Parts: sequence; structure tokens; C-alpha cells
Amino acid sequence: MTIGFIQNSPQFGNKEANLRDVTKLATGLTCDLLVLPELFATGYTFTHRDEVYQLSEDVDGMTIQTLKELSADSGAILIAGWIERDGDRVYNSSVMVYNQQVIGNYRKIHLFNRENVWFSPGNREPQVYDVNGTRIGMMICFDWFFPEMARTLALKGARILAHPSNLVLPWCQKAMVTRCLENNIFAVTANRIGSEQRGEDSFHFTGGSQITSPKGEILISAPTDSAYVGVVNIDDSEADNKSLNPFNNLWKDRKTEYYSL
Ligand code: ACM
Repeated sequence: MTIGFIQNSPQFGNKEANLRDVTKLATGLTCDLLVLPELFATGYTFTHRDEVYQLSEDVDGMTIQTLKELSADSGAILIAGWIERDGDRVYNSSVMVYNQQVIGNYRKIHLFNRENVWFSPGNREPQVYDVNGTRIGMMICFDWFFPEMARTLALKGARILAHPSNLVLPWCQKAMVTRCLENNIFAVTANRIGSEQRGEDSFHFTGGSQITSPKGEILISAPTDSAYVGVVNIDDSEADNKSLNPFNNLWKDRKTEYYSL
């Protein structure tokens, strides 16, 4: 199967322009799975909760409509970060869209920095979705810092971690090599580029989106400072074999009786 990412450079608050840019980057692309960054249509650095609410949407909004169009045009399962509105709450979420349907949605559980002011924390257990012959788990950006997250999705059977991100710390790309090795899983980390200076915050986003294999190989790595579309061919069933040698198996060797803390 072919899996890929789009690395974009959102203009804060200009959803129409950001959706147009991503649509342009995806022109002519065909693949089986395509991952876009966290909050790819809105930008990241908010100054007030009202601003977050105004940029939020429900599943009938223009962001998910555009993702449905991108999915139809590319044939891909589309996964992307969005601001999800549910009543008066807003979540930093990742949606999965395929065949004109919303297949799944994940509400970020490990909120980073002032995200804790803007968003409600995710209130549902992360799930693995069985879709078009593969199994995908979603995590968002800072979730990488918690190895339990990738582990939980891998134990639930994911072959691929779809990882929309707005990375500002310098370590994630390296850490994903370990996340993939220790779980024998693929990961697509879709990051953004550019900087945002708003209110009390100033962030520089590190680009370097990457696709990592179960053997910890970086199959493709995007530049740190330009928009980019990356696609690779994989055999996702490689993720099913947790055996290292005749004596070691990543799952069977876990000593859960010693992990009580
Ligand atoms: C982050 O979780 N967006 C750093």
C-alpha cells in the first residue's frame, strides 16, 4: 500500500486559504493513506478561548467537507487535525475520513502547554480502526512523549500510527524511531512548518515530517522549512510479526506482572 503525508504552512485563522493550499498540494496525488498535520486548517497559537470556539467546527463543517473531497480525489483514507466543537466544548481532534464517511475521531488526551487552556482534554479511549484492509490508530503531536499511547494502539492491533503534529520540541522525529521499533509498527508523522507569534506565545514548527518503519528506518523525511508531499510504498502486514527471533516476541515477552505502577 502507499502511505503519505502533506506538510503545510497554515496562515493563522484563514481556513479558506489553508484548505485551498492543501487541496493544491494534493492535486494529482493517489495513495491509500494520507495524513495532514494537527490543526492544519486553522493554525495553532490562540490568544483567547473565543477565538478557538469561532474556528471550531462540527462534522458538517468546511474542513471535513474538504477532507471528503480530498479522499475522493486521491482514493486515500484521510487523517487530519481539526478543532472539534461539541456543545460548548472544543477538542484538539484528529478525524479519519474515507468513502464520504467519517470513520473515526480521536480527541487529544495529552494536551501541550497552553492547549490546556484552550481545549477540553480527550475523554475517550484511543481506538484502532479497521479500514480498507489495514488497521490504523491515531495520536496527535505531544502524545509521542507518552510511550503508553503508541503501545496501547499497537496492543489494540494497529499496523500504522497516524500522527498529525505541530511539533515545537526538537526530539519527536528521533523518538518516533524508538516508538516504532519497540512496537514493530509504522508511523506517519505529519508536521507543519513556519512560525506563529501571537499573545504570550511564540512557536516555531519544525517540519521534518517523516514516515518510520517497524525496523526504525526513516523511509522519508521532509525538509524543515518548506511545504512538502511525501509518499512511500509499504507492506503494512510487516507490523503483524512481533517476533524478533525464535526466543523473543515483543508481545509474549512483556512481564505485565512487574509493571503494576
Ligand atoms: C504539540 O503537541 N502540538 C506540541
